[in-house]
Amino acid sequence: MTYVVVLLGSLRAASVNRQLAGLALQVAPEGVVPVLFDRLGELPFYNEDIDNDDAAEPVTALRQEAARADAVLVVTPEYNGSIPGVLKNAIDWLSRPYGNSALKGKPLAVIGAALGSYGGTWAHEETRKSFAIAGSRVFESTKLSVPLKSLNGMHPREHGELVEKIRDAVTQLAAGAQ
Ligand SMILES: Cc1cc2nc3c(=O)[nH]c(=O)nc-3n(C[C@H](O)[C@H](O)[C@H](O)COP(=O)(O)O)c2cc1C
Repeated sequence: MTYVVVLLGSLRAASVNRQLAGLALQVAPEGVVPVLFDRLGELPFYNEDIDNDDAAEPVTALRQEAARADAVLVVTPEYNGSIPGVLKNAIDWLSRPYGNSALKGKPLAVIGAALGSYGGTWAHEETRKSFAIAGSRVFESTKLSVPLKSLNGMHPREHGELVEKIRDAVTQLAAGAQ
């Protein structure tokens, strides 16, 4: 069994990226178990003064999930041409302890959707860069940046080709995690 922790860069209840993450959970191939860690909004802002043995419970929970995962799938929109703050904050927490973080060598892929015609590629590239610097083994060629316009106002599950692309992304990530 390959356990994939899913991190979501939007806190919005009706988030399209949440819908994509939900699809990833549904279409994962047999033997792959993706689980959404839906608590990024509970993390305090990263601060070295509170990054110690008494770190907040959501921080410990995030690090434990990352540690027990075989791989990480990040699903995120783009905010102002870059990584949404809630996700960047999670990266900062996950990047420590320096040199020995839960992300060290962890296979990781980034996908997502955004309003612009490039579907959030800037954010996705920067998310890859940031996780790589944090120590993850980033899958640079597993890419999916979905412009919202391409959904024509429908739920992503209505788009068969998109569902297949999500399945492919999860499959590639899980295969590379072996
Ligand atoms: C603060 C903010 C900044 C945004 N900046 C961008 C941007 O730089 N590029 C883009 O394509 N969309 C941008 N958007 C639009 C988002 O891509 C769009 O709202 C998307 O649906 C958010 O993802 P979600 O549906 O998963 O919450 C921005 C939205 C917000 C709220």
